[in-house]
Amino acid sequence: MTATPSAIERPLNFSTPYLRADLVRDAVDYTVEGRTIVVNPGNTPVIVAEDLRKAIPPLSSTVLADARIEKADALLLLRPAEEGGEVSGVAEAPGWAHLADLLGPDGDFPRETPLFRSPQDEITTVVFDPAHVLGERETAMVQREFTVRANLWFAPAGTNCFIHNQHDFIEVHTQVHGLGRMQRFRNHDQASLYQDVLMSPGYTTQDPFCATGPQCTYHYPFHQYKADTDCIWLAIEYHPVPRAVRLARSQENH
Ligand SMILES: [Fe+2]
Repeated sequence: MTATPSAIERPLNFSTPYLRADLVRDAVDYTVEGRTIVVNPGNTPVIVAEDLRKAIPPLSSTVLADARIEKADALLLLRPAEEGGEVSGVAEAPGWAHLADLLGPDGDFPRETPLFRSPQDEITTVVFDPAHVLGERETAMVQREFTVRANLWFAPAGTNCFIHNQHDFIEVHTQVHGLGRMQRFRNHDQASLYQDVLMSPGYTTQDPFCATGPQCTYHYPFHQYKADTDCIWLAIEYHPVPRAVRLARSQENH
C-alpha cells in the first residue's frame, strides 16, 4: 500500500498468512495497491478518485485494484493470499476458537456446528444516529458514540451457522472468501426462511438487519449465516458506548 505521511496503518490482530488484514486511519490521497477488499466502517462516504469520483458508501465495501482513495478516517483492507485457495486451516491460527468454547456452557451453542471466530480487534469509534443509519428516519437527530470491533468468522461448506435473534450491538458482515449468505427467518426453524442475501467476496450486506429498540438496544429478526462453500467473512460490530463512559471521558477532557 502507498500511504501518505499522515496515514496510520497497522495489521489487525486477526491478520494471518491466509489473509492479510490491515487498518488504515486518516488516509489522504491513499493508493490501494493490488487487488484488495476495501471496507468503509465509518458513517461518511469514502471517495474513490479515479476517472469518475464515486463513493464507497458508509458501512459498505468494494474490491479495488491499484486505485486511489481521496480521504478516509478509517479503512479496513483485506487480502486473501490466494484467491479461491484452500482456507480450512485458517481457524487453527492463534486466538481462533470454536464459538461453543468462546460462549462457555451458558452460551448453549451447539458443539456440532463448526463455527470458528478469530480474535477481535477494536478498530475505531464512530458517532452517528442509529435510527438514521438503520433507515428509520431521513435525517440524523440523536448522535451516539459507538466502539467499532471487527473479527473474522470461518465455517466449512454446508454449515448452517445457527439461527439467532439477539445482539446488543449493530452488526454488519462482509464476505471475504467463498460463497455464503445471510438469511432471515420467521422463527428458529430452518423451514421458516423468508429472505436469502447471497454474498461473494467483497460484498457487504446492505442496510443492517436490525432496528433500534428502547435505550440503545437493537431488535433483530431471526437470522443466520450459511456457508455454501468453505467461507471466511468479516463481522464489524458497533457497540454503543455507555453514557457513564462518555461522561467520564468528557470530564477527563476538562
Ligand atoms: Fe447475528
